[in-house]
Amino acid sequence: MATKPVLAIARRLPEAVERRARQDYAVRLGPDDDAGPPLSGDALVAHARGADGLLVAPGNAVTAEVAAALPARLRVIATFSVGFEHIDVTAARARGITVTNTPDVLTDATADIALLCMLGATRRAGEGEALMRAGAWTGWTPTHLMGVQVTGKRLGIVGMGRIGQAMAHRARAVGMAIHYHNRRRLPPGQEHGAVFHDTVESLLPCCDVVSLHCPATPETTGLMNAARLALLPRGAVLVNTARGALVDDEALIAALKSGHVAAAGLDVYAGEPTVHPGYRALPNTVLLPHLGSATVETRTAMGFRALDNLDSVLLRGESPVDAIG
Ligand code: DGY
Repeated sequence: MATKPVLAIARRLPEAVERRARQDYAVRLGPDDDAGPPLSGDALVAHARGADGLLVAPGNAVTAEVAAALPARLRVIATFSVGFEHIDVTAARARGITVTNTPDVLTDATADIALLCMLGATRRAGEGEALMRAGAWTGWTPTHLMGVQVTGKRLGIVGMGRIGQAMAHRARAVGMAIHYHNRRRLPPGQEHGAVFHDTVESLLPCCDVVSLHCPATPETTGLMNAARLALLPRGAVLVNTARGALVDDEALIAALKSGHVAAAGLDVYAGEPTVHPGYRALPNTVLLPHLGSATVETRTAMGFRALDNLDSVLLRGESPVDAIG
């Protein structure tokens, strides 16, 4: 029987994914999640020793130094995520290592969380939850915890890729009008009446809610800074389920304090798992711990997609469907 390729998996994955990996690979599993921070640096290199493929996830930083120290036989790094800013793709490619991600399969789950963040923020769900858990509710009153109705309001979407479009679909179902900014205008058949803005600056004044769906790149880091937040109408709501780096935390916290931004629904944070303490102190934030893709179905599909990519390279010698770069 032919020897199975060696696959180093840097983090524990859903059971069905680990089971499938064992069928085709000699698997080396990473430490349990509660054993400490995710493998990175020398520990990640040591974990990959002798491996043909490496399966990583957000938290496993594949820096240029790590890429340079990976074993010569290692041919592919598959990340269990659509985002890949934790991998120095250029450095990996310079070593002849293919890098893949998992697009498509997390679109619906992430758009669902964006909808949850939007409704949670507009309807003050965080304050309501806190009140109930504190046993402090004294009963229904005509004016208690009044939020903002989204029906008939304008949702501005920054980044109209797969997840942005899925969010637009959900927002239409609750009666919102869609405006968007994207690097390229969508073909008319995909706009479904959404209004295109060729700059973020022209989009923001038209947003009762703005939802971020673009990747974090050097160009988008700090996108929602004080100057751009000031372009929102007073009382607008901000939703971020994309990447924390898109938001200037100090600027958003100041806008939330002044009421210029009425509320924020956040699932991602710059420097996570550290969260700017200013967000926790504010009542008008709904804060989730990066749950965008966290359903059993989606996390399993992400793992299978990562394995499909690994199989292409390591079992069939083919180009993977999700090669980056
Ligand atoms: C991704 O896949 O990039 C997500 O942020 C993880 O849910």
